[in-house]
Amino acid sequence: MISAERIPNNVNLSGNKRLLRALEHWQPKYIQWWRDMGPQGFQDYHQVYVRTAVSVDPEGWAHFEYVKLPEYRWGIFLADPTPDRRIGFGDFFGQPVWQEVPGEFRNQLRRLVVTQGDTEPASVEQQRWLGQRCPSLYDLRNLFQVNVEEGRHLWAMVYLLHSYFGRDGRDDAEELLERQSGNRDKPRILQAFNEPIDNWLDFFMFTMFTDRDGKSQLMSLSESSLDPLSRTTRFMLTEEAHHMFVGETGVARILERTCQLMKEAGFSGDVRKLGGIDLPTIQKHLNQWFSLSVDLHGSEVSSNAASYFANGLKGRAKEETFDDHLVTSAVYNMEFFEEGRPVGREVSMRNAMNEVLRDWYVGDCAAGVERWNRILEQYGFSDRLRLPDRKFNRGIGMYAGLHFEPNGAPLSRQEWERRKYEWLPSRADSEYLLSIMARPVYEPGKFANYIAPPRRGINQQPIDFEYVRTEH
Ligand SMILES: [Fe+2]
Ligand SMILES: [Fe+2]
Repeated sequence: MISAERIPNNVNLSGNKRLLRALEHWQPKYIQWWRDMGPQGFQDYHQVYVRTAVSVDPEGWAHFEYVKLPEYRWGIFLADPTPDRRIGFGDFFGQPVWQEVPGEFRNQLRRLVVTQGDTEPASVEQQRWLGQRCPSLYDLRNLFQVNVEEGRHLWAMVYLLHSYFGRDGRDDAEELLERQSGNRDKPRILQAFNEPIDNWLDFFMFTMFTDRDGKSQLMSLSESSLDPLSRTTRFMLTEEAHHMFVGETGVARILERTCQLMKEAGFSGDVRKLGGIDLPTIQKHLNQWFSLSVDLHGSEVSSNAASYFANGLKGRAKEETFDDHLVTSAVYNMEFFEEGRPVGREVSMRNAMNEVLRDWYVGDCAAGVERWNRILEQYGFSDRLRLPDRKFNRGIGMYAGLHFEPNGAPLSRQEWERRKYEWLPSRADSEYLLSIMARPVYEPGKFANYIAPPRRGINQQPIDFEYVRTEH
């Protein structure tokens, strides 16, 4: 039995018996999933210093405590309603937002919620072995914070499914626990969420680039005419910010350590000889996760995206900053690739909405890479990390099946096969990373050799705080 009090919420759970019953049915399956597919080896004997959202105001949202992971209080929170909120784009522009799901958009909305919901448990599954290879207790705690919040995001989507989509929604909620990342028969819906994350460089790149895709998707859903979806995703965005902080600072700290080791070794020294992570390896992982995450934005020309926009289901990031919210006649200049050459052509803007969101995403990523490059600059190195061209290594959209160098130059298939490990992690790279992560660091204040300590601890605790402690 669960009680409404066990689930921190601002959706009046104790007054909604039907919803409470549905969650009572789902919750034990969720906990079983968490035990089977969540952090391996950190279920019963470890207490983790995590942030639990107990309300949506600034104090409630920064509530820290030690908990055993399966006992984390996964809550259900919607951002406060905006009084008299109106539909901000598309064919219903200016009308009041919806508090219920209109029958004609039920399937489309369900698909959006399920697709978003599927990514949340998937990432927990992908990251489940990382605790056994962690570079410090500080990082271990951050990993688990991200994991429990992805679990909470799953709860958020399951709340919507149970509340607004009837029987179908209940079935969807069960299936969210049945698909598994990387499973041959029942994989997760989106490819980036089926890729293994077995080392911490992958983890940091994932939280930098793939969680940032989460940010762009959540921003576009927070514009939705379906008000409960908008309010749910708005609150999820506050948590997403921490995930990207973990990724960006994680890579920054690896870079910093790499710079220190390069200096020690003499500028041209081989950093791997000193147990660090060399710049080419960092660049390859950047290429990998950026290109996988660019795919998550979908096809460049998409009638689904057009219809989501027309119906007000999914908008653009920061819709209020655009002048034209109807977008009935605007066009987008898109680069097609025909017979080995780029050809510019106009596409109706509504059909290009995936690309519009991708533009926002690429810009946000580029700013992050610039911040990383300042570290190289500070250490006096002329090397720079670069975001690959968006055509590079694509599996979805019009560049899928074609081949490009990271700078966007086209390549033949044979050339690609011959050279791809110049740009993407090879098996030898993965083996090297696993070799330096084989021994986890569990001593407070100690850090693995390949990563610099953070500037400060979590919640004003010292860096050598015992962020994860063993019971007894
Ligand atoms: Fe999430
Ligand atoms: Fe996230």
